[in-house]
Amino acid sequence: MNPCSVWAYPAVFALIHIKYAIRRAVVRCGGHRHIKHMSGSSQTHWDKVYSGTPPEQASWRQARPEVSLELIGAIGLRRGAAVIDVGGGASTLVDHLLEQGFAPTVLDISHAALAQARTRLGPRAEQVRWVIADVAKCRPEAQFDLWHDRAALHFLIEPADQQAYAACLHAALKPGGHAIIAGFAPGGPERCSGLPVVQHDAASLAALLGPGFELVHARDETHRTPAGAEQAFRYHVFRRIA
Ligand SMILES: C[S@@+](CC[C@H](N)C(=O)[O-])C[C@H]1O[C@@H](n2cnc3c(N)ncnc32)[C@H](O)[C@@H]1O
Repeated sequence: MNPCSVWAYPAVFALIHIKYAIRRAVVRCGGHRHIKHMSGSSQTHWDKVYSGTPPEQASWRQARPEVSLELIGAIGLRRGAAVIDVGGGASTLVDHLLEQGFAPTVLDISHAALAQARTRLGPRAEQVRWVIADVAKCRPEAQFDLWHDRAALHFLIEPADQQAYAACLHAALKPGGHAIIAGFAPGGPERCSGLPVVQHDAASLAALLGPGFELVHARDETHRTPAGAEQAFRYHVFRRIA
């Protein structure tokens, strides 16, 4: 079975995002083909960040993604459920998803990030779908029971990119499926990894996702960075109802 999903790139997004230099390449992933689409500047930024930072020193690093795991547990997914971690980077969430018997996909714009995660997992990496893509510029063919995003959406500061993200989420989530979206809370940091971020709240996310989604839960977390700073995060759980 092909462990790498093929992501289609709608022409309409190419027009919206004409300001970016779009590179389109067929790459190999675990011996199987998938197609990647990305904007050069962001991929360059994130590959540089991951190449120059040991995983345990990244400011967003969690030894164990406690809140995500609690929220996933509360949703009550069946074994074998399809879960995508969007902007998953080198997070250890995927390790726990495998342990709990889910079928994980990790999508990230950075090849270097996914290489770190694959190296950590060793042979277990073959049980994961790895997708190198810009979430604001692609549409998934597969559908998921759960969409998880900790600190990816908040980097999309252009309204058109946020709309593209929402369209991708809608296409990727099964009816009745859940989305966990986390980022810096209102009043929290305004930049991350040298980039400006958008601080979403329940109202801004509900407006972005549209009437097909209902808010199930919201939860705050004070994240302590490896350097000892405190960062206010907020997690939102939405369910697709239409
Ligand atoms: C702050 S890190 C968080 C990583 C991980 N979710 C965690 O909690 O440890 C943000 C991640 O989002 C990825 N990212 C940023 N913009 C993206 C985009 N447009 N599409 C896909 N991934 C993106 C970065 O490469 C990075 O891995």
